Amino acid sequence: MSTLFSSPLTAEKYHKLYQESLNDPESFWGELARTELEWLTPFERILSGTSPQVKWFEGGFLNITHNCLDRHVLAGKGDKIAYIYSNELDQERRITYAELRALVCLVANGLKKLGISQGDRVLIYMPLCIEQIVLMLACARIGAVHSVVYAGFSAEAVRVRIKDAGAQLVCTADLTQRNGKRIDLLSIVRQAVADCSSVKRTIVLQRDPSTTLSESEQTFESISIDESEHCPPTPLASNDPLFILYTSGTTGTPKGVVHSCGGYNLYSHLTARINFDLDSKQDIYWCTADTGWITGHSYIVYGPLSNGVTSVIYEGSPIFPKPNRWWELVERYGVTKFYTSPTAIRTLMREGAQWPAQHDLSTLKIIGSVGEPINPAAWEWYKEHVGGNQAVVIDTWWQTETGGHMIGGLPFLKQKPGKAGAPFFGIKPLLLDERGNEITATDMIGELVIAHPWPGALTTCWNNQERYQQYWNSYPPQAYFYTGDLAQFDEDGYLCILGRADDVINVAGMRVGTAEVESALVAHDAIAESAAIGIAHDIKGEVIEAFVILTRSTKWSKQLEDEIKRWVRSQIGYFAVPEKITAVESLPKTRSGKIMRRVLKAQTLGMPLGDTSTLEG
Ligand code: WT7
Repeated sequence: MSTLFSSPLTAEKYHKLYQESLNDPESFWGELARTELEWLTPFERILSGTSPQVKWFEGGFLNITHNCLDRHVLAGKGDKIAYIYSNELDQERRITYAELRALVCLVANGLKKLGISQGDRVLIYMPLCIEQIVLMLACARIGAVHSVVYAGFSAEAVRVRIKDAGAQLVCTADLTQRNGKRIDLLSIVRQAVADCSSVKRTIVLQRDPSTTLSESEQTFESISIDESEHCPPTPLASNDPLFILYTSGTTGTPKGVVHSCGGYNLYSHLTARINFDLDSKQDIYWCTADTGWITGHSYIVYGPLSNGVTSVIYEGSPIFPKPNRWWELVERYGVTKFYTSPTAIRTLMREGAQWPAQHDLSTLKIIGSVGEPINPAAWEWYKEHVGGNQAVVIDTWWQTETGGHMIGGLPFLKQKPGKAGAPFFGIKPLLLDERGNEITATDMIGELVIAHPWPGALTTCWNNQERYQQYWNSYPPQAYFYTGDLAQFDEDGYLCILGRADDVINVAGMRVGTAEVESALVAHDAIAESAAIGIAHDIKGEVIEAFVILTRSTKWSKQLEDEIKRWVRSQIGYFAVPEKITAVESLPKTRSGKIMRRVLKAQTLGMPLGDTSTLEG
């Protein structure tokens, strides 16, 4: 363990170390990379180049699965439980670090036999379960690049992602159960791969014995039969790609955010450890996210495993069969660190405080929130009814692109409801006004940018260096990373995140681009033009409302609205379906033809329209 963190962190120590981390980032990150991770070949340089083209730990080779599995087994902790899995049917399964390593090796050898090798892309479309995590780790073991797609996306969305990544292999399950309902994942994958020539095989975690597989499909079990439990980790260069994760942006199709092997390993490891104050001897940690999102990658898979803790994973809904399902599991397993989203908290809050009250939740020490701004009422409810007023509530702000927590966490600092908090070590947030000048006054709103490079940052966008460049704005000597969020500082330097500055909508913590929804809408025969906006919602934070101009011959009806909703669902996924669709004669546009979503939003909410000088006459 690094001497930097050998004594417990305090507010005073944080301020001192934070300054040091900014003054001399190379010493700070260099020492941590050497002491917190094991390298197969030591790195020669800590940080090379300038943003956006920085490289971390050049010359170094490692394998994240060695740090997540082998090093714990070799240290005699092979019998420690890595995951306790449960689902809506209460089927429990436990797997130790040694068993997980063995299974990952078996599957990694199976992948090799299927012809998958370093640099190949594997798309994973599965529910949250041990086999899903095993497949991610098996890819990482041999240097194949995984691209996990949340199993709520439609066939069309899967197809777009397979094509962009050129995936050779797709992994899925025949079904999952959510809210008591069986969801057929295999038929979605079958539709998706139908015209994807790059895909040679589909691996299916078969749960229903009556599922019949086609010739190009084979079961999860079958790929590792007769394989060896020995598969040495492939040494990967620190800057080799570890995974691709698609996320929505302001324009066009989703972009494939790429994370590296070395920098990402360090950053997800360290943020998990510091912000959840992880202690592998005592903690039972539970992050309720799905592995289809970055939160699952960093804080279900890589961060917790790299720290050697025991995690709970749960496949299913928080309110099935009853709204006490999560609290039942917290009590049963003695969960100490818990991490969820504001949408989940608000959903459970609506069900009532009697549900958490039925259970002994006194083991909880740190309870975290992520994905969207947490409103003070939900924060207070979480603290009182889940944390029993004794657990520390942390908010954590970050993004798919940042790899790990950037703002908030830091449980040794005073926490404030409604404020994400203070920056992590080495992270320098700045606020810029519309002209790009830095805002230093407190309580003024600006666009949040990050001024220093940090090891968890995305390294590129898959096959699209141009999109990667768009994240950065070059003001010599160092480019700033544009987050797309609006924020303000308070008098203590804590950041309050106010939401997106761009045309991205955050529906229940899931990022949806207005452009994506609009292009799905206009792809429908009845629609000539469309606009989508985000409207505040009590539970989900935001929901989508759409406005459409119909093609000449079409008449508006409730049936048509329902049909369009089904259409959007088939193009993107259930979470991108507008709550409401309104047929209009025209849309507010600038003279150059850009839709003014801001004006549309103000009109919808009955608010002042603001500056309309560029509005078309
Ligand atoms: C966007 C990133 C980070 C993992 C989950 C989402 C919003 C995220 C917070 C928070 C306020 C937040 C931002 C950000 N967001 N966490 N604690 N407070 N807003 O990852 O899908 O990449 O979305 O989610 O708007 O830009 P993502």
